Amino acid sequence: MKDKRYRILILQVTPKNLDLALGFLYKLGLTTLEQKRNRSGTWLLVKVGFDQITREFTDPFLKFKTEDGQRIFKSIKYKTILHGRWAQALQKDLRPFMLVSPREESSDLPTLWIEPRRKISKLLRKDTLYIQPGMAFGTGEHPTTQMSAELLCKVLVQEKKAKVLDLGCGTGILAMVAKKMGVKTVWGIDNDPTALEVAQENFSRNKIKEIVLKETLDETRQKFQVIVSNILFKTLVELKDKILRHLAPQGFLIISGIVYQDCEALIEEYKNLTLIERKNKDAWSALLFKNEN
Ligand SMILES: C[S@@+](CC[C@H](N)C(=O)[O-])C[C@H]1O[C@@H](n2cnc3c(N)ncnc32)[C@H](O)[C@@H]1O
Repeated sequence: MKDKRYRILILQVTPKNLDLALGFLYKLGLTTLEQKRNRSGTWLLVKVGFDQITREFTDPFLKFKTEDGQRIFKSIKYKTILHGRWAQALQKDLRPFMLVSPREESSDLPTLWIEPRRKISKLLRKDTLYIQPGMAFGTGEHPTTQMSAELLCKVLVQEKKAKVLDLGCGTGILAMVAKKMGVKTVWGIDNDPTALEVAQENFSRNKIKEIVLKETLDETRQKFQVIVSNILFKTLVELKDKILRHLAPQGFLIISGIVYQDCEALIEEYKNLTLIERKNKDAWSALLFKNEN
């Protein structure tokens, strides 16, 4: 009978050694299921077979070191999961993690945390967004959301008076990031009514008011100084004309939801705009454009 159990390796790495760690896993043919940052470090969650964890298997992890002798994998733990129970197992495990943090090249970025929280509570930290746990997408853990949030903060540090549109807002994280950055007018648009309901719940959970939620961009003619759209390559191509029509002169467009290989094609689609920055994380990319027309 096929074993119903498998293991999740939980590996702790220091952020500066993340690429080395991912390369090591890649060579072993192991796929990273999740990458998390929380107050105690960066964690990689990797699925392996139930019988795979032996001394011979874990030894190379422990022996993998930087040139100056520091261990790449600071700790290795594992847990056993029953097939089909991944979501429940993960929910128990949800801890606060950093969505945005100051970088060497951009130290004026704020620190923003995400804390999964089931109940609505009165105690809220200014630097934290509280999100309903257990959503398939929209918990802020996806690299495209993290890169979009970082680029959004970077733009909004300079452009506080901007009107911001989060197109494909999902559970509303990026719209809330704009609010946390002090923006007055924020719109969130999503063609999935369930996403809009969850977004509205998240706004209440965070006591954030005055984000306009709509199902389609056709409901407004106004222009936005900043548009952030973490959707998918195909949709970003389909919506191009509408996006450009709603982007103010000298405005900024942040797009993500694209895999690395699709970047060039998307840059070509948006060639009327000036590409300012490109970010890559795992297999994903995010692009920042300026409308200099
Ligand atoms: C990948 S999710 C990203 C959610 C959110 N921006 C985030 O980063 O967590 C993409 C979202 O875009 C929405 N979407 C897809 N096509 C759309 C369209 N044509 N107009 C508006 N929303 C769309 C989906 O319903 C989904 O919620």
